[in-house]
Amino acid sequence: MNVRKTHVRLTILNELLAVCSPTKYIGDLREQSLSIILEALGETVGGIYLLRDEGQSLQLMVSRGLAAEHLGELQRLGSRCALWQACTQGAGIVALPVDGSDGGTLEQTLSTLGQRMLCVLPLEAHEERLGCLWVSSASLITLDEEDKEFLNTVGLAIGLAVENSSLYEQMEHRLLESEALYKVSRALASTLNLDDLLSLIVRSAVGTIKNAKNCVLHLLDEETGELRPRALSFVDAVRPNVPGRSQMRIGQGVAGYALETGQVVNVGDVTQDPRFLRVGKVRRFTSMLVAPLKLGDRHVGTLSIDSEQAHAFSQSDERLLVTFAAQAAAALENARLVADLKQSLSDLQAMQAQLVQSEKLSAIGQLIAGVAHELNNPLTAIMGYAQLLQTTEGVDEGTHRDLNKIYLQAQRAAKIVQNLLTFARARQRSGERQLVDVNEILERTLEMRLYQLRVENIEVTTQLDQRLPQTLADANQLQQVFLNLINNAQDAMTEFRGAGHLEISTELLENTIHISFADDGSGLSEEVQKHIFEPFFTTKEIGRGTGLGLSICFGIVSQHGGRIRAENLPGKGAKFVVELPVITGAPSKEQTADESLASRPKNKRVLVVEDEVDVAGLLQRVLREDGHQVVLADNGKSALAHLAEARNAGKGFDLIISDVKMPGMNGSTLYDHIRQEETNMVNHLVFITGDTVSQSTQVFLQKADLPYLSKPFSVEELRHVMSSALGG
Ligand SMILES: Nc1ncnc2c1ncn2[C@@H]1O[C@H](COP(=O)(O)OP(=O)(O)OP(=O)(O)O)[C@@H](O)[C@H]1O
Ligand SMILES: [Mg+2]
Repeated sequence: MNVRKTHVRLTILNELLAVCSPTKYIGDLREQSLSIILEALGETVGGIYLLRDEGQSLQLMVSRGLAAEHLGELQRLGSRCALWQACTQGAGIVALPVDGSDGGTLEQTLSTLGQRMLCVLPLEAHEERLGCLWVSSASLITLDEEDKEFLNTVGLAIGLAVENSSLYEQMEHRLLESEALYKVSRALASTLNLDDLLSLIVRSAVGTIKNAKNCVLHLLDEETGELRPRALSFVDAVRPNVPGRSQMRIGQGVAGYALETGQVVNVGDVTQDPRFLRVGKVRRFTSMLVAPLKLGDRHVGTLSIDSEQAHAFSQSDERLLVTFAAQAAAALENARLVADLKQSLSDLQAMQAQLVQSEKLSAIGQLIAGVAHELNNPLTAIMGYAQLLQTTEGVDEGTHRDLNKIYLQAQRAAKIVQNLLTFARARQRSGERQLVDVNEILERTLEMRLYQLRVENIEVTTQLDQRLPQTLADANQLQQVFLNLINNAQDAMTEFRGAGHLEISTELLENTIHISFADDGSGLSEEVQKHIFEPFFTTKEIGRGTGLGLSICFGIVSQHGGRIRAENLPGKGAKFVVELPVITGAPSKEQTADESLASRPKNKRVLVVEDEVDVAGLLQRVLREDGHQVVLADNGKSALAHLAEARNAGKGFDLIISDVKMPGMNGSTLYDHIRQEETNMVNHLVFITGDTVSQSTQVFLQKADLPYLSKPFSVEELRHVMSSALGG
């Protein structure tokens, strides 16, 4: 090697000056400086090492004349080799002999290439060593003082340029980082789409961390303890870690380790790290950097980047990845909060809907009760007279048939009124409650319908939770609810496909009994779902459904402190769920047993107190036909007058049949008077009422504990009550 004269040196310096602009990309700068020096010295093998790990190691930044197979081991050199010493401790350029036997890694490699001398030029800036530029030669190198001085100056110039460029690059990189972080922060504040956010984060990590090639965000599946990929940014089309294949678990692999310890893990060479667990397909990377995702004290996943280069990631890369991981954690937390919020909102909406429904039904209930009451009187009259006329002598067959039609149609109307009253009553009256076994009621109800269901090709399966506790409820009312739901399901399936499957199950959840009826019928359209619990809402033909079934169910279930809801099943069909709170406590007294059926009494004196002329007339006719004497009074006051008169005349009444609601003195006041003035009549009273709904009537009847007839009643019912009251 021979250093030529001054003009040559000036040319070299000139060329160097031209490439050493501080805004130059540092990689180009190193490459070009090395080329200029090699060319000037007429050599072909050389490179630049820079100090790393606070001066404890050297990293090869650029090289010439070395085969790829050598680069791996020359990438990083430790602090013991002669090169490191020459670079950090020497007073300037040094020439070292290349000895194959006891030199460092670089010397050994160079000797296999037939090189004999190694010339090390320290690079420094502001009196601080940055690394060195080295050139090797196959011949012996001799440097005179002038050569050394020149080359040291060159070292200084390159060192300064490297320092400046690296500062410039750092600045540019910081800017890029800030931009990326800002972009993610803005996205965090403006979008709630978790997938978009996480994908932006992995792409930003690859885009800003210099050597990063791939990035994966793993989330911990808390049930299985596995780490599952959630967002990826891969350069290759093939995703090396296919979800569902072998998965990493907490504590396994580098990511599993980061997750377990909550620490950032920076692995310079995975082939040397026992924690590295090769997952999925062969992966061509050497360095790996993993940051845990933390939500409070919990570690919920990891953010990992990798690179083909060894020791690719610096401390500032670690800091950046941690920041991205924190942003990903914030995105996850936001998503969780939003999900919670949505759930609370839908719970609230469901509760509100139930409340509105309840209010609406309560208002409708009051209206219905009033109307039903008004209908009871005419219906009682129509049914009664139709029956009476039928039994009148001399009625021809045609008239008899027509009368029967009148009677049947009135009965149909009466049934509707009865249902309406049940609905209204269920909302107000607590009913006769006892401790009941819901499973047993269900089975009993099902038994009643089983034959019909089988005929209609409907298969029924039950799954009854045998641990259900007993609860305080009105068994008859519950039976009515179950019957309605089974009938509806049957209708829906038969109409839809002429067959079906009904699954009935019970379950205890948080002290609430859930009873569900799932069918595979038509399901519920949005419109049907909106109105399904409203009275008179039906999709069935006229005469086939009144639309009262579910509103009655709703009333009964609400009255039991429970809920009823309808939903569509994913495939096809509908599911109705009744939720009853478990109530334990003293059961109320059982309803008095049936009165014994006495033989029909004859020849009694009966005082009928009724303001409704037609009903009074009907009662009078039936009683007279049965051989009784009837006296009519149109309110309580005139009834008292008749009673007093009869007492004075010494021929008292055997029975009083009285309406409850009447103008002037009503039934309840009349009863009070009788208790005080006509004590012998107290146990010979029957009330009739069209108004079992109103609170006052109920209280009165319960307190009096007397037999009563609800309007509309048939002639048979009247006779039955009469017999009990007179004969019993
Ligand atoms: N299991 C079900 N599948 C599909 N639709 C249903 C189901 N149950 C009820 N429905 C719908 O809800 C409507 C109201 O039901 P609801 O029981 O209140 O009245 P209904 O069955 O029509 O008449 P009613 O019960 O008074 O005889 C029905 O007409 C039907 O359209
Ligand atoms: Mg129904």
